[in-house]
Amino acid sequence: MTTERARSFGAAADDYDRLRPAPAAEALRWLVPPESRVLDLAAGTGLVTRALAAEGVHDVVAVEPDDAMRAVLTARSPGVRALSGTAEEIPLPDGSVDVVLAASAWHWFDAERAATEIARVLRPGGVLGLMWSYSDPDTDWVADLRRIGRAEAQGSASLVRSGLSLEMPAGAPFAEGESRVFQRSAWVAAQDVAAMLGTYSSVLTLPAAERRDVHRRARAFLTERVGTDPVLVPFVTGAFRTVRS
Ligand SMILES: C[S@@+](CC[C@H](N)C(=O)[O-])C[C@H]1O[C@@H](n2cnc3c(N)ncnc32)[C@H](O)[C@@H]1O
Repeated sequence: MTTERARSFGAAADDYDRLRPAPAAEALRWLVPPESRVLDLAAGTGLVTRALAAEGVHDVVAVEPDDAMRAVLTARSPGVRALSGTAEEIPLPDGSVDVVLAASAWHWFDAERAATEIARVLRPGGVLGLMWSYSDPDTDWVADLRRIGRAEAQGSASLVRSGLSLEMPAGAPFAEGESRVFQRSAWVAAQDVAAMLGTYSSVLTLPAAERRDVHRRARAFLTERVGTDPVLVPFVTGAFRTVRS
């Protein structure tokens, strides 16, 4: 996993925020017990932070290394404490949160260092919840669309293919985890479905002319293959939960 790809998202922070799917509310309910102090790790533009607020979870601190992503979070969630930091160096005291959430991000972390650092800031018995929210690649047209952006090769693809059967690094103080998949659909303007492809690291790291070409081909594909505008997009949130011992 290259650092270039892990840090590519800030260049499209506004598009990312507007176009990427928020996590399913059911996934948040499964991961976050009531009255929890939550760390939204690799919070990006705050999609998870805002989804938590919509569920009545307000005791949230966000940690995100990219200044452009964090600026969108702060603008859209002005009351939330948002800190510069990484999963490998979390700027919080020991045992200070009940839940750590990391959405569409675990695959970018140095898993061993992140697991140690997450265990440090989580209180014993606290929950680590990992999520990935995406348009469902089990739907043929979605899989074909993602191929246009080489987004089937994005960092989380192998995890998704394995059914999110994640294992924490050996020796990390976490119980055996469990996974669930939450599905929903939403109508999305065809131009936004095409533009969403441009928020994946596989496209963000291409030269500008190639990014434009991906968008043009995605738009044409949607017209020919799907034929409606808006498009009914199937979304999935894959969630993994483990408890700190
Ligand atoms: C795909 S985005 C996900 C953002 C947000 N969690 C969401 O669901 O929309 C991945 C985020 O991870 C951040 N990131 C990359 N490497 C990281 C690391 N080592 N520690 C913490 N965050 C990292 C990136 O800056 C980016 O904002």
